[in-house]
Amino acid sequence: MVEYNLQVTTGSMLHAGTFDSLYATLIGTERQSERTELTNYGLEFKVGHTGTFTVTTLLSLGCLLLLKLEKDPYHEFPENEWFCSKVLVTTPKDDVILFPCHRWVSRGELVLLRGGRATKAFEDDHPRLVDQRRKELVLQKQVYQWDKYAKGMAFTFNIKDPTSLPAEIHFSVSKAFELSHTKDATLAELNLKGLLDSTEQWESFDAMKKVFWFNRTPISEYVSEHWKEDDIFGYQFLNGINPKVIQRCSKLPSNFPVKEEMVKPFLANGSSLTMEMKKGNIFISDYKIIEGLPTKLIDGKPVALTAALCLLYVNPEKKLLPIAIQLGQQPSENNPIFLPSDSESDWLLAKIFVRNADFVHHEFVSHLQNTHLLSEVFAIATLRNLPMIHPLHKLLIPHHRHTLHVNILSRARIYGPGRVLDNSSLATEGSTELMRRALSKITYSSLCLPEDIAARGLESIPNSFYRDDGLRLWNIINSFVKAMVAYYYPSDSEVSWDSELQDWINEIFTYGFLRNSNSGIPESFETVEEVIKFVTMVIYTSSVQHAAVHSGQFDYLGWIPNAPLILRKAPPTTKGQSTMETILETLPNKAFGACTMSLMWLLGKKYDDFIPLGTYPDQHFDEPAAKQMIKDFQAELSSLSEAIAKRNSELELPYNYLNPTEIENSVTI
Ligand code: FE2
Repeated sequence: MVEYNLQVTTGSMLHAGTFDSLYATLIGTERQSERTELTNYGLEFKVGHTGTFTVTTLLSLGCLLLLKLEKDPYHEFPENEWFCSKVLVTTPKDDVILFPCHRWVSRGELVLLRGGRATKAFEDDHPRLVDQRRKELVLQKQVYQWDKYAKGMAFTFNIKDPTSLPAEIHFSVSKAFELSHTKDATLAELNLKGLLDSTEQWESFDAMKKVFWFNRTPISEYVSEHWKEDDIFGYQFLNGINPKVIQRCSKLPSNFPVKEEMVKPFLANGSSLTMEMKKGNIFISDYKIIEGLPTKLIDGKPVALTAALCLLYVNPEKKLLPIAIQLGQQPSENNPIFLPSDSESDWLLAKIFVRNADFVHHEFVSHLQNTHLLSEVFAIATLRNLPMIHPLHKLLIPHHRHTLHVNILSRARIYGPGRVLDNSSLATEGSTELMRRALSKITYSSLCLPEDIAARGLESIPNSFYRDDGLRLWNIINSFVKAMVAYYYPSDSEVSWDSELQDWINEIFTYGFLRNSNSGIPESFETVEEVIKFVTMVIYTSSVQHAAVHSGQFDYLGWIPNAPLILRKAPPTTKGQSTMETILETLPNKAFGACTMSLMWLLGKKYDDFIPLGTYPDQHFDEPAAKQMIKDFQAELSSLSEAIAKRNSELELPYNYLNPTEIENSVTI
């Protein structure tokens, strides 16, 4: 008799265990075992438990190919799904083979698992493996289908109702509860305080501090105290929630006629705008992309949204400060250039319009389009084209966790007609058009941080922690991906032969970037280097870049005057007419303001089932070399985390969004 030892691990999430009867069949190159019940007459399949079982055969099965799992009812008990994490099989020759599962198993379902080393399709040399691989992808393509969400936008997952999602990609029970509880609690507080439906304007800035009893963070408090200062206004272009707009200015745009004499008082003694431009100390944030977009109608009238231009200067103290603002792309007498020397309310109002433009750009372009929607495209392409045994499936799947679910929820509750963001300056029509514009202009370079920083001339601007931490993370991820990809693709020809990999990138090019070759996104891969760069970008976008534009949402956008979702008055056309009262009249009313704060709290919160970058609780790789690469990756991240913590301890305003302990592996919220 020959014995195979099976260690079967049940998932550690709520309700993962089962009372049902489970059976295993081992399939080898020579023969297959009997269908064997996995039982030791105890609670073998309780949450987080590993049970040990024996499958006995008369003769050796040869090389193990597949493991079949089946689940039958236990007497008359109702369906009791089981989450199987993995099965470790020890063969009679003492080889230990990992069969990753990481899925829910229902009654009557036949689950066929592949074990051992990751393989590409052309490496499978047994007909049963070829057949299983083909059938897995056929099934995956039935479950995960593309949907044309809107013309000119990236395709999305075709399921619209979160309750219809496959269980594997569903939020955990604890996350779903925590989200729902957080939403209900914040809305109940707003309701109790009469803020939920109030169309009144805020009596004072202090009144805005009373929206929540307890929801605050050290940075949100700092922002609410310092928001009027030019220092924090300038700082946010580099380290706030939207560090993707600012670029070096070596020549003023022709539609932004800032004169030397206008800004001379704000520059170093004896200096000039021309001299400072030559030194590389002048920067610009230009919101041209939002020009002419249809805006939300209030009482039948479109609200104002300015495609602002803001000129900034790095002063001798290395602070980035605004020195001129124009609230629209067309210069004219009615579109004056505002300066720090204008009245306090004029200058503050000009900055508020810039913050409103930045809010819109941030939420719809930097956050939703360029991280959430792109990550959804990457996730669907992986699920459809790369079977579980494929090395890039194993590498990427942890970076797609919960992304489809959160995006479906966001389309159902946050973005779209009648949803929260419909109350932004753009509403649905305008924001859809903005995302369409953004996708048509997107470039591969802009998604690769080193190239993006160079293209925007930000290599040496002082105090850019987003750049510093982001570049280090890019390099750490790139080294990890390089080691992994080079291990599984020893030559460029292996890249060309991998039809699944080619299908993966082709679907991303087609459904994510609408076959726009101007984007620079590849439609196929020819070299190992190309694969390394693209996979680095996918992991970076889904983890680091998302953290950079997501995690500080309550910190910076939870203070209404610093991040108005909508403005109720047109921008000033002349100077000297505004007062602080004008600002209160311009800011969102109580309901709009309080709802924004509530949304930012819901989105900016760190949830309990957070999985930090480089942490892989679900084991997919069996090879010692790959497991060592993961350990090296984790060590690099840990050392960066220590360096960031040390740096932050010396900063008045710590930048912790790209501390690896604070970056989630994937887009989950
Ligand atoms: Fe997000």
